[in-house]
Amino acid sequence: MSDFECSINDLLEFIELTKKYSGNDLISKKEIVKNKIAHFAKHKKIDSMHTLCGKFQHDKIFRQELLNLITINETYFMRELNQLNSAMQYANTLSISGNTVKILCAPCSSGEEVYSLGILAKTIGIDKYRLKITGIDINSNMIQKCKEGIYNERSVKNIRQSQKEIYFKKVNFDYKIKQELMPMIEFKTINIFNDSLFALGQFDIILSRNMMIYFDENYRLLTIERFAKILKPHGRIYFGSADLVPYCDLYNKIIDLSGTYYEKV
Ligand SMILES: C[S@@+](CC[C@H](N)C(=O)[O-])C[C@H]1O[C@@H](n2cnc3c(N)ncnc32)[C@H](O)[C@@H]1O
Repeated sequence: MSDFECSINDLLEFIELTKKYSGNDLISKKEIVKNKIAHFAKHKKIDSMHTLCGKFQHDKIFRQELLNLITINETYFMRELNQLNSAMQYANTLSISGNTVKILCAPCSSGEEVYSLGILAKTIGIDKYRLKITGIDINSNMIQKCKEGIYNERSVKNIRQSQKEIYFKKVNFDYKIKQELMPMIEFKTINIFNDSLFALGQFDIILSRNMMIYFDENYRLLTIERFAKILKPHGRIYFGSADLVPYCDLYNKIIDLSGTYYEKV
């Protein structure tokens, strides 16, 4: 196998490239990134960062593999439950008018957030045909996991035993979500900085939790500006409590006991 050459400048070039493409700022994790990249490059028999960056820009499949490698996908069921409940109560109010309520989870990682919303919707009795949840993520391996819907014990740690019995089928040591009980759900591999985001249509509610923590100020602002374009008038967006949300006059910040959200003006 070839040795992979990677000077500090090479590494910074790669970090800049991935940031430009995906928003993820890997500078504080550069040692981890260096090790991951070196291992990947060896496996692919690539001996220089120059070649690797060139392939990243011109080879779609190669780029996807690298993005799958560098993104951080930590998630679990019922994470920041207050917000999920708040979003679902709002969806319930909207569904009473008879329209189909559209929710976007961007990003959805391996799907736990989407299925948590599905479980909460069912629990409060929202008609499953009046709710559509779309989950998107830049990581195609995670989208594959979403579609399979199989989760380990750690992932379902916040699910009550009674809920586990209703919404999951035990498969060896894992839990498979019962898709048939869920509202309308779809998953797609989409980079929020790609214009395919705008082809998804308009949403009543967006959840974008724990993605902007990896972005710098410029990309955080770009993110919320892009979401404003796919949010209906007075639509809501929920960010994670650790996300830094830049000021933007496209939204009003609503501080609510059940969960802070941003309402499109
Ligand atoms: C820590 S997870 C958060 C998942 C879930 N929302 C939650 O709070 O549990 C962050 C996810 O953001 C995704 N991501 C990062 N950059 C993205 C981008 N530009 N477009 C879409 N997804 C992205 C990653 O692949 C990762 O799965």
